[in-house]
Amino acid sequence: MPSVYIKTYGCQMNERDSEAVAAQLVTKGYTLAPSETLADVILLNTCSVRDFAEQKAIGKMQNIAAETRRARPGVVLGFMGCMAQSRGRELIDQLPDVDLVLGTQKFHRAGDYLDEILAGRRKQIVDVAEESGSEATIREHLLNGSAKKSVSAFVSIMQGCNQYCTFCIVPYTRGEERSRTIPDIVAECRQLVAAGVREITLLGQIVNSFAKRDIPVRDGLSAFVQLLEAVHAIDGLERIRFTSPHPKGYGDDLIAAYARLPKLCESAHLPLQSGSDRILKLMHRGYTRERFATIIQKLRAARPNVGITTDIIVGFPGETDADFAQTLELCREVRFDNAFIFKYSERRDTPAAAMPDQVPQEVREQRNAALLELINGIGREKYDAYVGQTVQILVEGPSKKNAARLTGRTRCNKIVLFEGADRHLGQLMDLKITRTGSFTLYGDPAIVNL
Ligand code: 5AD
Repeated sequence: MPSVYIKTYGCQMNERDSEAVAAQLVTKGYTLAPSETLADVILLNTCSVRDFAEQKAIGKMQNIAAETRRARPGVVLGFMGCMAQSRGRELIDQLPDVDLVLGTQKFHRAGDYLDEILAGRRKQIVDVAEESGSEATIREHLLNGSAKKSVSAFVSIMQGCNQYCTFCIVPYTRGEERSRTIPDIVAECRQLVAAGVREITLLGQIVNSFAKRDIPVRDGLSAFVQLLEAVHAIDGLERIRFTSPHPKGYGDDLIAAYARLPKLCESAHLPLQSGSDRILKLMHRGYTRERFATIIQKLRAARPNVGITTDIIVGFPGETDADFAQTLELCREVRFDNAFIFKYSERRDTPAAAMPDQVPQEVREQRNAALLELINGIGREKYDAYVGQTVQILVEGPSKKNAARLTGRTRCNKIVLFEGADRHLGQLMDLKITRTGSFTLYGDPAIVNL
């Protein structure tokens, strides 16, 4: 049977999609190649959120094609995911060595299409059509892989987005919002827990919009909070996370869920995008800076040590120095544990790409550097405050950089490295934090775990 190598760009949703495709192919008898140089099928699962991500994947495919086509002409090359969806056949016109272009509603078709290409029945396949019910097809998991995969799993609860933020390509690459049913998601979670998973992260573009048109509010609980309760009831599951919620529609029922559900980890990734009300409006975000700050205050009241991270875009069209100063000010006020900062990138067919007053590239760079400095400084103070404290981590596996160390996460979603042994894999354990690195904690189990 052939071997496959999948390289993933972008978000956790993409990681999950890649894993589901890999699991689908393994079920058919494929093996997973350790690197692209050994694989019979090479798939790049792409991201379109910024031009940089697209260019990286295109450049990678050019290199792969140049290398494999000479030495191993039979290797199958494919693009899948968001850029495959938005560019479709154009990708094959640009890169004629590509055999497969698979859109975001077609991951479950990967195996059949590869069969046809490998058997020589079809040469080049492009499928970026919509498919009803595709939201329920991302369900297979690779559980016999690394320890990390077997203790912590992603579960996709919905696809698509209806928010249409003016900068964002996602509604066009992922389609309309479609949610799975609660019983279907719970069944998948139960299977994972039965296979040894202890932590589940529920994934969606805007998780707090989950099934809001399909499942009515019950006892004041939105559909998403009803889902959280149902997942929380699974015996043997220890930790629940979700990403990402949207500040618009972030209800008090969700904040109350943090106070009520002990398995729900005290961690939140809540995308801010800008601290200026004028820019938030131009972005079509649907909230003000004050509303954002209020959500954070309420979350902290429910769980005082909640870890809060965010996404921020600098250099959105029309963003002035005064607007940017408001973003800095809000970051000083909120004190995020960490933030992902994005330089605004024009995306085709999005309203913001056609807005006046596009910000010069060097101003985007300057604002990026200034915000990074602020975020890093606050992050350092927050991380340093952990030194001497004892935290609970779920041990995921060997650290990527140094295989002699193990890595895990605190409930607040901070990475902790420590010198551990194989018997710690998959365990919840208490560590005393001894020092910090860049957005990393170092712990010592010897002090508290004999
Ligand atoms: N330019 C820069 N950043 C963007 N993001 C989404 N679209 C763009 C864009 N056009 C960022 C947002 C989002 C994160 C996943 O990517 O901050 O939350």
